[in-house]
Amino acid sequence: MFMNIAHRGFSSQYPENTRLAFQKALDLGITWMEYDLQITRDNHLVVMHDKTVDRTTNGQGLVANLTLKEIQDLDAGAHAGREFAGEPVPTFEETLDLLHGKARMAVELKFEGNDPIDQVLDILQNRNLLDQVSITSFDLAKLPVVKTRCPEVSTTALIKQETRPNHNWIGEALTLGVDTLGPRCNETTRTLVDRAHTAGLVVRCWGLGKDQGPEMERLLDLQVDGMTTDCPDILQEILARRTPG
Ligand code: G3P
Ligand code: CA
Repeated sequence: MFMNIAHRGFSSQYPENTRLAFQKALDLGITWMEYDLQITRDNHLVVMHDKTVDRTTNGQGLVANLTLKEIQDLDAGAHAGREFAGEPVPTFEETLDLLHGKARMAVELKFEGNDPIDQVLDILQNRNLLDQVSITSFDLAKLPVVKTRCPEVSTTALIKQETRPNHNWIGEALTLGVDTLGPRCNETTRTLVDRAHTAGLVVRCWGLGKDQGPEMERLLDLQVDGMTTDCPDILQEILARRTPG
């Protein structure tokens, strides 16, 4: 089944990486969610894209310099609209509680270093969720660490020309032992998709913000296996239209 993955939840209409954005995506019937993990000063995993809380909350500073309590006291909704004020930053565990049994998850490791990886995997293992996630990262060195600790878990190599210019992405993915290649949408070509499929890799694109219906259609024509999008509602409509009968 095609993976229509709500990027940071239903983030085109609700504050990104919040339980509200995840719940609204679930309400649409979305069964794949993407979100990002950072780690606090007191070693709690929280769902946030940036290294700092500045853009998405009413606070300031690096997540790594703040305690969980300090982060939980922040407002992660108001930046997206006054009607969302009071929406907190969710922890990893709270997000799993919400999504468990309802959606599979692309969990992106945004934190610095490899130390928190064990903690991520322990939490997933304790909840029997290892088969419900794909662990993703642009920091490709993290992925073999994940695989060594949990060979059974799916991993996704996120790639872009900017950081991996002219690389043999497929060869690199195979060396890393990942099962999924995650190229930026506008760098995804028919040749790349065909070669990745021939190599046995799943192709899941990213970088689809608003107003990207035509790009979704182009990627579907290339027969990619999934994409993250801020507009899972639009992708859902396109998929429904393209489904025969
Ligand atoms: O799915 C990968 C995508 O989320 C990468 O971009 O910046 O949203 O983490 P970013
Ligand atoms: Ca992400």
